[in-house]
Amino acid sequence: MQGSPIRKLASTAEVRKKQGIRVYHLNIGQPDLPTSSAVFEAIRKFDQKTIAYAPSNGLSPALSGWKAYYHHVGVDFEEKEMIVTTGGSEAIVMAMIAVCDAGEEIIVFEPFYTNYNGFASIANVKLRAVPLSIHNGFHLPPTKEIEPYITTKTKAFIINSPSNPTGAVYTREEMLRIVDLAKRHNLFVISDEVYREFAYESKAVGITEFAQLRNQAIVVDSCSKRFNVCGARIGVIASHNTDVIASALKIGQARLSVATIEQIAVAPLLNDPFPYTGPIVEEFRKRRDVVYEELKRIPDITYYKPEGAFYIVIGLPVRDAESFSKWMIEEFEFKRETVLVAPGQGFYATSGKGINEVRLAFMLSVEDLRQSLSILGVALKEYKSKGM
Ligand SMILES: Cc1ncc(COP(=O)(O)O)c(C=O)c1O
Repeated sequence: MQGSPIRKLASTAEVRKKQGIRVYHLNIGQPDLPTSSAVFEAIRKFDQKTIAYAPSNGLSPALSGWKAYYHHVGVDFEEKEMIVTTGGSEAIVMAMIAVCDAGEEIIVFEPFYTNYNGFASIANVKLRAVPLSIHNGFHLPPTKEIEPYITTKTKAFIINSPSNPTGAVYTREEMLRIVDLAKRHNLFVISDEVYREFAYESKAVGITEFAQLRNQAIVVDSCSKRFNVCGARIGVIASHNTDVIASALKIGQARLSVATIEQIAVAPLLNDPFPYTGPIVEEFRKRRDVVYEELKRIPDITYYKPEGAFYIVIGLPVRDAESFSKWMIEEFEFKRETVLVAPGQGFYATSGKGINEVRLAFMLSVEDLRQSLSILGVALKEYKSKGM
């Protein structure tokens, strides 16, 4: 198992903070906006005498909540086509185990959400990574560059649009490329849609929009980001393929159930998502715009305009972005302030890739984002002047 590269430098940040240095966290996707009061009210209202196990497929308020949520976003899932999970994380593990025997393969596009590596280890499946390029904002390559990665052991694609860590939102044509390949080679598509609402140029295209893939599409999803309830740990795995859901349920039964009170607590948001998600998506659009503006001021970096989620991968004019990130958090300061970023290598499966890249997450206010990116610019200048 790999450790999480995103959390690697975090302990050093704590040491610096104790020394009185302000650290701007651009490293982690922990939303900073307040959770809706409806969630806390639902928790306070919980009046059962025992916190009992929930059913393995989920409690009725959560299942009907997910059904209502999907209806709001134009997707039709029946309750029997879903299992409530401990975050999107568990849904991904369930999907991998449901579609692969040990040693079989799933195709992923790199850079990708780094925990897919850990999930693949848990599921005992191999990820085969198709490289993307920063020069087209990490959009998908043509079919002829993807197809050679399919082997006799391949069982699925895993895709994530809007994407962590790149912020890319795949076009309908790109999605169709995956759908056609999945159709032709009889593969599943595990579609990680946890950032569905965070698409700033046009609506994100979900995998369920392709009727021809009805039986091969698996949606893995989460309340974490869109409702700012990361710690509630409520997600879902959904598929029209009842064999997939039956297999996933066996795993669900082995882990017994998902936290009872949290399933009830997120139901009001699932039943009526837009009043909450509307304003926060607008806030993140503002932040995305500010990041894009501020990056223009830093010389010699490679970047693009992310279309969604709240991340960007940028190329730095340094040999090794991990050494730079470490230096920035361990030694550098500008007026008693510094910045923590996530080195890019951890988001790749292929060794040596992403070596000059870092991922930034937009989890700060607009003012703090401006300040932290200006500090990043100062740090890069100083690092280069030292010939490092
Ligand atoms: C792309 C992606 N998928 C899944 C997850 C898992 O989130 P959770 O388990 O909180 O739902 C994350 C979290 O950062 C993510 O970025």
